[in-house]
Parts: sequence; structure tokens; C-alpha cells
Amino acid sequence: MNEIEQLINIALENKKNSYSPYSHFRVSCAVKTGTGSIYKGVNIENAAYSPCICAERSAMSAAISAGEIEFTHIVINGDSHDTFPCGVCRQFIREFADKNTQIVIANAVDDYRIFTIDELLPHSFSNEDLKEI
Ligand code: THU
Repeated sequence: MNEIEQLINIALENKKNSYSPYSHFRVSCAVKTGTGSIYKGVNIENAAYSPCICAERSAMSAAISAGEIEFTHIVINGDSHDTFPCGVCRQFIREFADKNTQIVIANAVDDYRIFTIDELLPHSFSNEDLKEI
């Protein structure tokens, strides 16, 4: 089993922890950092709706809070076929991903596609823009 398949298995297994009593749409994310550590996250909903956090930001926040800001893999599995990150998550990912970060849209261990952040969020605004002022 390659490292991507291993991460997909972790994401699939972790989807049971999704807290999604309002949408009933479960999303799970497993990320691997530059040091090789793995962090997991799920979507966490809220009765007030807007405080909801997506699985991607949940997993990456766990890593960042542990001092890890380099990501080699961001693996996403949701309850729909090909669950892609929402627009907010794409911008969040943009902050920490580079061209080598593999964003994996996973349906199953043998059914996944890999994207870069430039493919998912072309012409993005980033810290590169702020360097110009
Ligand atoms: N959701 C995610 O966790 N990640 C995405 O990329 C898409 C949407 C969650 C948010 C909400 O809890 C549920 O899926 C339905 O939108």
C-alpha cells in the first residue's frame, strides 16, 4: 500500500467522527506534513450554522497547532462522489500548500485523483501579493 492509499484508509476510518447532525453530510480529511506526521480532521457543525468548520481546515488546524505548517498531502473523503474542498478551504489550503502538495480527492483506496492548489484555485491571492507593497 502506498502512502496515499494509507492516508485514504485513515481518512475513511475517521469519517465516523464527523459531527454533522444538521447536514448529515460527513467529510473527513487526513494530512501528512513535511516531517511525515499525520493529522486528521472532520467537519464539525453547529446549531448556529455559521461556526461550522470543514474537515480540511479542521485537519490542517490540528497540524498547524502542533507546529507543522508544511503539507505534502491533503486527502479528502466526503459523502458525495468526488467531494472537493469548498472555496473557503481552497483559500485556507493556499496559505500552506506549495506546488508539490498533493491534494487527493478520494472516493476509495483504489479510486482517487490528485490535484495541486493551482489547479483548484487558479489566479489566487496569496502572501506573494503582499510582498509587492
Ligand atoms: N464540508 C466539508 O467539511 N468540506 C468541504 O470541502 C465541503 C463541505 C462540510 C461542511 C458541512 O458540515 C457539510 O460538509 C455540508 O456542507
